[in-house]
Amino acid sequence: MDRPFNIVVGVAGGIAAYKAVLLVRELVLAGHDVRVIATESALRFVGAPTWEAISRHPVNTSIFDDVAAVRHVALGQQADVVVIAPATANTIAKLATGLADDLLGTTVLASRAPLVIAPAMHTEMWQHPATVANIRTLAGRGVTIVGPGSGRLTGADVGPGRMSEPEEIAAAALAAASAREPAPVLDLDGRRIVVTAGGTREPIDPVRFLGNRSSGKQGAAFALAARARGADVTVLAANMDAAPAAALDAAGIARIDIETAAELAAEVARLAPAASVVVMTAAVADFAPAEPATRKLKKLALGERTELVLTRTPDILGDLLAHPVPGRTVVGFAAETAADREELLALAREKIARKPADLLVANAVGGGRGFGTEDNSAVVLDSAGAVVAEVSGSKRAVADAVLDLVLRRPA
Ligand code: CTP
Repeated sequence: MDRPFNIVVGVAGGIAAYKAVLLVRELVLAGHDVRVIATESALRFVGAPTWEAISRHPVNTSIFDDVAAVRHVALGQQADVVVIAPATANTIAKLATGLADDLLGTTVLASRAPLVIAPAMHTEMWQHPATVANIRTLAGRGVTIVGPGSGRLTGADVGPGRMSEPEEIAAAALAAASAREPAPVLDLDGRRIVVTAGGTREPIDPVRFLGNRSSGKQGAAFALAARARGADVTVLAANMDAAPAAALDAAGIARIDIETAAELAAEVARLAPAASVVVMTAAVADFAPAEPATRKLKKLALGERTELVLTRTPDILGDLLAHPVPGRTVVGFAAETAADREELLALAREKIARKPADLLVANAVGGGRGFGTEDNSAVVLDSAGAVVAEVSGSKRAVADAVLDLVLRRPA
């Protein structure tokens, strides 16, 4: 067992309720905290004392029990998984439409935990188009449906509709609880974070540009990580690849597309004053053609040899650091073609001496490393040039590790 779970077992009114006693017993013996919600009709099959003795908790039935503790939503909110066994045709219909006229209904609607149901009913009811449609609706919503098995039903009937065995239902419930994503830690809740990502393109003429190989993946990973931790994120996206841009869109993260270093500088100047963290992953061109041609350059006019005059672009990171805002953290990046860690550190220290970012993430690029890859490995220095962390793994893991360092800085 990876950890004890909070499990809600909903019991609907069917003869298979007696088998749900064994389900509750199995889960309790395995060390889980089990709260039983029995419908009024379930209690006509198995009485409250049985559920209370087996689950070691009061059995919950009515929305009006323990109103002060907001019981009708609390059980669902605290649950790691909600299991309904047996799930009768009536309960399945109510779940499919989202009815909340009893404690089980309100609990299910108030819960974001996975829902596992074990249907039990007569074959005709199971095969009725209404039930078939309801089951399809629930499956489409991600509900796990265990069984039903085929076999002896109440009375002399035989066929599909028999509730699965308690062990099988317990296993499905625990698998669903384990697979659940842990609740995110919202340690950047409400913080405004600006992330620059991708690589700038400096026009030579209307069709050509000076650019670089940055894909924007590391910047997107920062944005997604910060967003998952509750931050209010804006990405200044310089020619990002389609996949990281789509990942940002899917997460609903604000993205402002820009092209050149000058455009990026203007957007950073606009947004950075209100930001509490600025993460400068973008590979910004240091030089741009001094006078981009307004019409396409023609090779015959240029001859066998030509020269391009470049001028320095604004140093966005340098300008940010020249105008510090109390409480704001600025994270810079250094992508270096270093042969080994020593050379990488030396180049990063030289950079931080010139541009003392609060944190500088230095990584080696070239030879298949860094640009466009899925993974990254970096050394993180503070503004004094001391190594504060060495991080490696997915770009998301690197982003989370750097955000941890941001949070550790004094406010
Ligand atoms: N950067 C910037 N504005 C520029 C160039 C770079 O803000 N015009 C930022 C990058 O986003 C990155 C960091 O500065 O966070 C990189 O530092 P920099 O010293 O400019 O690195 P390089 O451009 O690689 O410079 P060098 O050629 O000196 O290594």
